[in-house]
Amino acid sequence: MRTNIGGTAPPATEHLLVCAEMALGLQLRRQVLAGLLLCLCVGRWAEAGKVLVVPMEGSHWLSMREAVRELHARGHQAVVVAPEVNLHIKAENFFTVKVYTVPYTQDEFESIMRTHIHVFFQRVHFLTMFWEAMATLKNVSLLFERSCEALLHNKDLIRDLNASSFDVVLTDPFNPCGAVLAKYLSIPAVFFLRSVLCGLDVEGTACPNPFSYVPRLLTRNSDRMTFFQRVKNMLYPLALKYICQVTFTPYERMASELLQRHVSLVEILASGSVWLFRGDFVMDYPRPIMPNMVFIGGINCANRKPLSQVCTAAFVQSVLLVEHMFLKKL
Ligand SMILES: *[C@@H]1O[C@H](CO)[C@@H](O)[C@H](O)[C@H]1NC(C)=O
Ligand SMILES: *[C@@H]1O[C@H](CO)[C@@H](O)[C@H](O)[C@H]1NC(C)=O
Repeated sequence: MRTNIGGTAPPATEHLLVCAEMALGLQLRRQVLAGLLLCLCVGRWAEAGKVLVVPMEGSHWLSMREAVRELHARGHQAVVVAPEVNLHIKAENFFTVKVYTVPYTQDEFESIMRTHIHVFFQRVHFLTMFWEAMATLKNVSLLFERSCEALLHNKDLIRDLNASSFDVVLTDPFNPCGAVLAKYLSIPAVFFLRSVLCGLDVEGTACPNPFSYVPRLLTRNSDRMTFFQRVKNMLYPLALKYICQVTFTPYERMASELLQRHVSLVEILASGSVWLFRGDFVMDYPRPIMPNMVFIGGINCANRKPLSQVCTAAFVQSVLLVEHMFLKKL
């Protein structure tokens, strides 16, 4: 059994699961306080854990940051490893940052990210957009690859991390660098993710994923498909295979070099102890899951803000309108 929930899971992992459970209910602040109080009573402060956080760039980090904040509040120590050039990963008082140098500048990085995002907002033919997106995606992947190489080959940092005896690595395997690092340092990994491209998350969890009723990315199929929709469901993932080949092969190469044997990315992902999915079955169709998959979609709403007046007024008006139409029909 790969999963180590319950048994020998380090306390930080248990608390991550508690975090996850709490996020599930879109809880109120009062409930958070009650939860914290409960932890104070039954909590095991003596077992505060050390968490090594390897975040993914961009908005992915913003949800993970909330989990790190909560871990800190529960007495755990978090160390975030980040490239010196990044978008949102800034120092905060609830974790320690360890920065590593990368072989590109902030300008280079921002211009590639900007071009990449810009592509999706152009008014061009779908195929043109697809090819341009592929070209920029190659550039973005190359940046992440160079960043990962800089991390894994930073001897001082690796020695330092290895000597720090972390209990768990918390990482988003969308960028598999953190998963490779966890494997290299032989530390249990907790994955915090929306998904991994090309269904690698499904392969990593060894979860059944029948074409006949689990709709694939971009197909717009639902969980009830006709025969031809099922065929489409089988064909679409083939187009994405190429992207994944380009994106993920370098990580297999890096991992194989470090571990001095051939390792596949699926093998690296399969060593994840717990998978915290930032999704739920309100957004996604039901599908089979494994015991170490936990759904924490609510965590994306940790920083919700009240709607603006304009927005609320428009909403109220539309409700009134619908009500009015409904009554007229009666
Ligand atoms: C990719 O990067 C190279 C070099 O940095 C640049 O010349 C090229 O225009 C970029 N391609 C795209 C599609 O952004
Ligand atoms: C980490 O330290 C242990 C014990 O000193 C050593 O055996 C291992 O090779 C080190 N791992 C790495 C990746 O440096």
